[in-house]
Amino acid sequence: MYRGDRLRQTLDQIGRSIPHPNTQFHFASVTNGNIALLQIVQQAGWGLHANTPGDVFLGLKAGFSPPHIVYSGSNLNRADMKQLLDWQIDRFNFDSLSQLQDFCDCAANRSIRPALGLRLNNPELIGDSRIGIRAEEFMDAVTIAHQHNFTITGLHFYRGTGTNATSAFTDAIDRVISIAQRLPDWRSIDFGGGFGYPYRGGAAFDWPEFGEAIAQKLKTLSRPIELLVEPGRSAIAECGILLAKVVSIKWQDDQQIVGVDTTVANLSVPAVHGGYRSIATWKTGTLHQTDVCGNTTYSRDYLGRNCWLPRLEIGDAIAILDSGAYGYAMSSHFLHRPRPAEVLLEGSQHRLIRQREDYSILLNGQIF
Ligand SMILES: Cc1ncc(COP(=O)(O)O)c(C=O)c1O
Repeated sequence: MYRGDRLRQTLDQIGRSIPHPNTQFHFASVTNGNIALLQIVQQAGWGLHANTPGDVFLGLKAGFSPPHIVYSGSNLNRADMKQLLDWQIDRFNFDSLSQLQDFCDCAANRSIRPALGLRLNNPELIGDSRIGIRAEEFMDAVTIAHQHNFTITGLHFYRGTGTNATSAFTDAIDRVISIAQRLPDWRSIDFGGGFGYPYRGGAAFDWPEFGEAIAQKLKTLSRPIELLVEPGRSAIAECGILLAKVVSIKWQDDQQIVGVDTTVANLSVPAVHGGYRSIATWKTGTLHQTDVCGNTTYSRDYLGRNCWLPRLEIGDAIAILDSGAYGYAMSSHFLHRPRPAEVLLEGSQHRLIRQREDYSILLNGQIF
């Protein structure tokens, strides 16, 4: 279930946090590709950040126009590149010279001349990462682009997902901008996503602090620079809640073992990726150490471990909070359970925005 008003509030808060006059927000739909939610984002005046051609496909269906979509993917084949050009996407960030070369070849005879940027790989700033191009290769990239009548105008910096410390971004600003200045036709900087969300409570990423710091820096430059940011989880995590019902209760010594009617395949982050999501109930009373387990015998089918919850009963509802990002988007048919419905709550009204699957989905595409 998603709270539409909460999503709008978050978009608004983030959107007002950067005083730089030429700033564009692009929602990273890798986190959530539900069309009804993308429409809320689009209506809030945000663009879309696409990681894959599928992100673009969904974005176009939701009503984003191609000039409002930025593509910063990795390892595209030529069919992907042609498809993106057919969709008229006109802003790309590349993360290898060979991808840039291939793209320039694919785009050679097209009327569309997309804006091109490079994804920065800088171990001092982001540690070890497979993504991006080293600054030493920038002039080779510029040459490749020039040979095909393109210019490299953008630099894309991605700090790494779930970075809660604001300083991890603010401390990088000077360095990233000085690297960008090595590009002779530099006109835009994309500070990526990766902005954290406080799943465990505590200090949240400080958008106004980041916004002020980057705006101040850009003000000192001799040419006007366009700023792009592509928040993912920080924009959409909070509005999503995965609801489940208790179907089994047992106790192992003092530990409450609660079985629920959903599975880790619907929210793989806590058990498979080591993330944390708070779990709430409508019950009150003494808290007990509790494991919340999914409805399969997969050994990692835990939605929460060692949570503190009141004594629960069969039929009680639980709410797994902050599930809007990398929740449904990372769900799968692993364990062969059809996926749940998605519902959008707008004030006191609610509407279905994705149907609950039935068993026929498990046969999709199978030939037998
Ligand atoms: C280039 C880029 N931008 C933005 C995002 C969204 O990241 P986050 O959800 O951490 O903000 C991603 C995630 O993979 C990404 O690869």
